[in-house]
Amino acid sequence: MKASLTANPKTAAARLKKICSLRPTLAIILGSGFHHTLTELRAAKKISYANIPGFPKPTVSGHAGELFLGHLGQTPVLVLSGRAHFYEGYEMERVTFATRTLAAFGITNLLLTNAAGGINRKFREGDFMVVTDHINFMGTNPLRGTAISGLPRFVDLTQTYDKKLRGLLFRAGKISNFKLRRGIYLAVSGPSYETPAEIRAFAKLGADAVGMSTVPEAIAARQCGLNVAAVSCVTNLAAGSNRGNLSHAEVLATAERVKNSGAALIRNFAELYGKQI
Ligand code: HPA
Repeated sequence: MKASLTANPKTAAARLKKICSLRPTLAIILGSGFHHTLTELRAAKKISYANIPGFPKPTVSGHAGELFLGHLGQTPVLVLSGRAHFYEGYEMERVTFATRTLAAFGITNLLLTNAAGGINRKFREGDFMVVTDHINFMGTNPLRGTAISGLPRFVDLTQTYDKKLRGLLFRAGKISNFKLRRGIYLAVSGPSYETPAEIRAFAKLGADAVGMSTVPEAIAARQCGLNVAAVSCVTNLAAGSNRGNLSHAEVLATAERVKNSGAALIRNFAELYGKQI
C-alpha cells in the first residue's frame, strides 16, 4: 500500500482561506497555451505552491506553480498556474490534490485547460477544442485506493463535462472571434509522445485529441461534486499526421503563438460565468 499524503486537502483549503478573504466559486487550471490569462487577471493574492501544504512542485518548464485569487473582468476566480502531471512520477493522489483542495475551499465549477495533439484530421495547430467527453488511457484511475469517507466510491461519469459550462465556452469563443472545435480528449500517461500506430488506433477509438493531463482532475472533481469543463489548445498535430517529428519546443511555440486567443477565451468565459450566477 502506498504511503498516504502528509497533508489533507481541508488543511490546504484552510490555509488559502486564511490568506485571502475572496471566495470565488469558479477555478481555472492553466495548461500550456493558456498561461497568458494571467496578464488579464487582477490578482488580489498570489501564493506559491511551496507555501500550500500538500501542493506539488511542478517540474516542467512553463508551469510556474502558483495559485492566484483575483478577478477576471468582474468575476472572482481562483487560478492555478501549473499542475502536477502523472508523468512527473507523482502518485494520482498528488496529481488530484489541488482539485480536492479546490472542492474543500468551496469551488463549485472547475475549468481545466491543456495542450493536446490533434488527432481529428480537420484540426489545425493553434485550434482550441472544447472537451465533450474523454477516454482514460492512462492505465490507472485517480480514485483507485482507499475509499474516501463521505465521497462516492463508484463515480458516475456519464456527464463529466458540464453542458452549461460548455455552452459558456462556445459563447466565449464567439465573443473572442474564433470558432471552437469540439471533441473527445484521450489521456495517456506520457511523457513520451505517441507512435503513429497508437494515434491511428486512438482515431479508431473515437478520440479527437490526445494529451497527458486533465482526466485525473476531471474524475476527482466529479467525485467531489464539482461541475467540470475542459478546453484543449491543439499545439501540434499528433504523431504521424505530419512528416515531421514532435517536440516539446513545438508545443511551446504554438502555445506562444496563440496565447492571446487562449487568454481572451478564458477571460470571456469567466465574464459570462459571472453574469449567469
Ligand atoms: N501527445 C500527447 N500530449 C500532448 C501532445 C501530443 O501530441 N501535444 C501536447 N500534449
